[in-house]
Amino acid sequence: MSHLEPILRPARESDADAIAQLHARSWRASNRGIMPDAYLDGPVVEERLALWRLRLAEQNPRHLTFVAEARDGLHGFICFELDADPVWGTLLDSLHVDPRLCGRGLGAALMRVGLARVLEVAPEQPLHLLVFEANAGARRFYERLGGHAESCVPEPLPDGSGTAPAIRYVWPAPVTLPDN
Ligand SMILES: CC(C)(COP(=O)(O)OP(=O)(O)OC[C@H]1O[C@@H](n2cnc3c(N)ncnc32)[C@H](O)[C@@H]1OP(=O)(O)O)[C@@H](O)C(=O)NCCC(=O)NCCS
Repeated sequence: MSHLEPILRPARESDADAIAQLHARSWRASNRGIMPDAYLDGPVVEERLALWRLRLAEQNPRHLTFVAEARDGLHGFICFELDADPVWGTLLDSLHVDPRLCGRGLGAALMRVGLARVLEVAPEQPLHLLVFEANAGARRFYERLGGHAESCVPEPLPDGSGTAPAIRYVWPAPVTLPDN
């Protein structure tokens, strides 16, 4: 690892605002046309701030969040929820890389580091996630990491305005990722 690469570490409560800002920026870049413009151009930042402040303050042991931190701030984050579903097991709740830094391997690095910790504490659980059907880049990313498209389900939008079709990707237990 060069000195310019970010450090991957567990998230702290003090990371909440930076995570929320990055989450909103990433949604604005990747979810245009999926989430309403009125939400992405309006309350998305405040709404993500409220969620991340609460989530990191709670210190719920079922939530495992990791950040990629560099000298100039956060470059990405990943969050898992253990025991999220009786059938599908651990949920990959969110994974976001700064839109200016996508395509350089950071998403895969966050996935590998985060998942290694998840498997230490919940080795018997499968892994799943939901990604909007229209998010072709993220779907390619998860397929390359060995996820199987299991079904298409209506995913509620965060502003409560409706749903959008999402693909459920699954990794059966014991979860492994391909080497590269
Ligand atoms: C999906 C995401 C986390 C992947 O992280 P990343 O650091 O860009 O991914 P990596 O560099 O490790 O892997 C690159 C692969 O990711 C995929 N990818 C997805 N979005 C991409 C983007 N905006 N730019 C480049 N690659 C992207 C491609 O398959 C790419 O491989 P390819 O260039 O050979 O097609 C990241 O692109 C991102 O944050 N996207 C926006 C938010 C999002 O969609 N999150 C997932 C929601 S469930």
